[in-house]
Amino acid sequence: MGLGQPKGNRFCPQAKGVNWLGNGFQAVFFGIGRTARPHRGADIDHHFAPFGVLVFHGFENGQMGLASRVGGFMEEERSPLRLHNIEFVDIHCHILPGLDDGPSHWQESLRMAQIAVAEGVTTVVATPHQLGNYPHNTVSRIRGRWEEFCSRLASEGIPLRVELGADIRLEPELPEKIANGEVLPIGDHGRYVLVELPSDSCCAVENLLKKLRRIGVTPILTHPERSVVVARNQKFLRQWVAGGGLIQITGGSLTGSFGLVVQSAAERLLGEGLVHLVASDAHGATRRRPLWRRVYERLAELGGPDWADRLCRENPARVLAGQQVLEVPPISIGFFPKLFAMFSRKAG
Ligand SMILES: [Fe+2]
Repeated sequence: MGLGQPKGNRFCPQAKGVNWLGNGFQAVFFGIGRTARPHRGADIDHHFAPFGVLVFHGFENGQMGLASRVGGFMEEERSPLRLHNIEFVDIHCHILPGLDDGPSHWQESLRMAQIAVAEGVTTVVATPHQLGNYPHNTVSRIRGRWEEFCSRLASEGIPLRVELGADIRLEPELPEKIANGEVLPIGDHGRYVLVELPSDSCCAVENLLKKLRRIGVTPILTHPERSVVVARNQKFLRQWVAGGGLIQITGGSLTGSFGLVVQSAAERLLGEGLVHLVASDAHGATRRRPLWRRVYERLAELGGPDWADRLCRENPARVLAGQQVLEVPPISIGFFPKLFAMFSRKAG
């Protein structure tokens, strides 16, 4: 099957027949195993139960969410990774300690690396926050921490390649700061930078995109699905992509870590072909971990393994190598993403 061809629910056959509602709500129809209220920012995973689990979120990033999970044991046994030996490239991961809201010490960073390796990740781009609330994160400070991390990984024998980058707050002076070497692009070639919007709100970006294009830099907008304001602003996102920008969503958004609203927004963006890359945006070893297997499974359910591979490995590897990313075709989406799209159109 070619790219963008939905493959149904082949990795979760026990949920057949209820896909018309969207996968986020399937568990309701198979009985409730138990409920949980994870702390703010927690991953929702390993909630196994014989028939299904219904997980209610508290307020997560200002939104009330609801997520569900079906038949954990069955899904683990049927993991497509055993058939499809994918090697993930994570271009957005807060893995360096003591620089931002990521890990606070070396042990946690090393544990994150072990988790990433166990999840099938071969390469991680270390992307601490820069600019905004993190003016102290200079290039030399980040580089020093990165060099020490690489040597600790080698002495611990952890087979993870770590490249250098940053999660940069978008500001009008960004092109000048890139040109002056004040912020870190992804990898050595300097062709891509990872950017987040100030205060999760939209701003005028036309001139900024033009300036970045002029200096040969492509910005990658991180996790627009996690801000309802940004995710609903079709005009802004389309303008961003038309202006040469790329879009990266967070893997956990697709598996319910941020609630049903964010999950629906992420699937709606995928449905419209506005997403180019998936990354973990991991922040720790016990919360917001660098988890990939379930993310890949969910993507494979939505659009097939080749399509998932493009989002999780091929395009991230191209970004790291400074090559042009490949097109990611739109897919058909479920009930909740459609509902989200309908409200977005009304809002727009
Ligand atoms: Fe980040």
